[in-house]
Amino acid sequence: MEQVDTVILGAGAAGLFCAGSILRQAGDRAGRVVVLDHARAPGEKIRISGGGRCNFTNLATGLDRFVSGNPRFAASALAGFSPADFVAMVDQAGIAWHEKTLGQLFCDGSARQIIDMLLHRMRGAELRLGTAVEKVEPAERGFLVASSKGPLAARRLVVATGGKSIPKMGATGIGYDIAAHFGLALVEPRAGLVPLTFAEQDLDLCRPLSGLSVAAEVSHGAGRRRTRFRDGLLFTHRGLSGPAILQISSFWRPGEEIIVDLAPDAEIAAGLREIRGQGGRMTVASALSRWLPARLAEAIAAEAGLAGARLADQGNAVLDRLGGRVNRWVLRPVGTEGWRTAEVTVGGVDTRALDSRTMQVKSVPGLYFIGEVVDVTGWLGGYNFQWAWASAHAAAQAI
Ligand code: FDA
Repeated sequence: MEQVDTVILGAGAAGLFCAGSILRQAGDRAGRVVVLDHARAPGEKIRISGGGRCNFTNLATGLDRFVSGNPRFAASALAGFSPADFVAMVDQAGIAWHEKTLGQLFCDGSARQIIDMLLHRMRGAELRLGTAVEKVEPAERGFLVASSKGPLAARRLVVATGGKSIPKMGATGIGYDIAAHFGLALVEPRAGLVPLTFAEQDLDLCRPLSGLSVAAEVSHGAGRRRTRFRDGLLFTHRGLSGPAILQISSFWRPGEEIIVDLAPDAEIAAGLREIRGQGGRMTVASALSRWLPARLAEAIAAEAGLAGARLADQGNAVLDRLGGRVNRWVLRPVGTEGWRTAEVTVGGVDTRALDSRTMQVKSVPGLYFIGEVVDVTGWLGGYNFQWAWASAHAAAQAI
């Protein structure tokens, strides 16, 4: 039986980074480090991330940017490895980058550069691709990993197999099976950062506007549990998408409503009254187009039965209704597009089982969970990679 010191399951962002960090920190003391993945290439999600340019971190990283059953769990790991630490590595590797909006950092060139940097950093570790992990069992001195290429024994085991999103890219959910096998609790995994799907009556407005994008505010929940995102909203033939919808999808649960404000900087009912007070022959649609793209303004006027109608002929009740339609559009999505298109998995290995400083399972010395498989999910915008780097760094320091 082949025996190694550390086996890392998964050659994604967290697994590759962890292997490099172990070697950097422990040097020769690291012993043999083996990374297993069933994919044909490492870091496949990095390759396609950020539209091919990898949004590798976010300067605004903080606990409030993550969804988790325990909102404080990520604090220690995030403090131990910051966006600036990753940027320093990117700079040292000579990779040019730029800040887009909201602190999001992207490569100027291809995301492939990040993968190459991670591979260079983990020289000394063995990367075994095309190796499907089938099962993990506790063994006398560590763990026994059953794989499509035969068994492997290791003193330490790091599970970095990611979540369930995009099975076509290699996601299997095996990390959850391993956690369950060792008696760890799971927070029900569900699709996050995913387009929502809508009922036929909502599609009547969306479909003809397919391709149109507006700056909107999408909110969900009430009181202290209210979450809102102001970002791009895209009309599609399947409903609504774009960053604002993807963000809210990580918080939405089946049966709940979301509220869309299509003109978050304006009070539309009051604005329409003001224009009406100025007299003139303006139509409802052209008045609305002061705040909305013309196509959307026309569609909203037509939906209200006011295509071609003059603003001056409308009473206050109609203007209030139009205002509500623009500023407080209440929708009840019927579902999400699911694992096929979800960028992340919300939920995962319950953090109560893990030591937040090391990512080690409290009840099983030598077993670690890092990255997306853990119940820590970032907002859209580079936070998920920052969690992958930070959690991998925390585990590597302990190993
Ligand atoms: P990851 O999923 O990267 O890696 C897990 C690895 O385990 C995979 O290589 C898989 O093949 C392997 N594996 C699974 N089951 C196995 C088995 N049974 N046997 C062997 N190997 C197995 N985030 C961000 O911060 N900025 C961004 O720009 C983007 N963009 C983006 C775009 C798209 C289209 C997607 C789908 C996702 C993003 N993300 C993102 C999210 C980000 O990609 C994600 O959070 C990280 O890749 C998670 O890293 P992990 O290493 O935890 O899992």
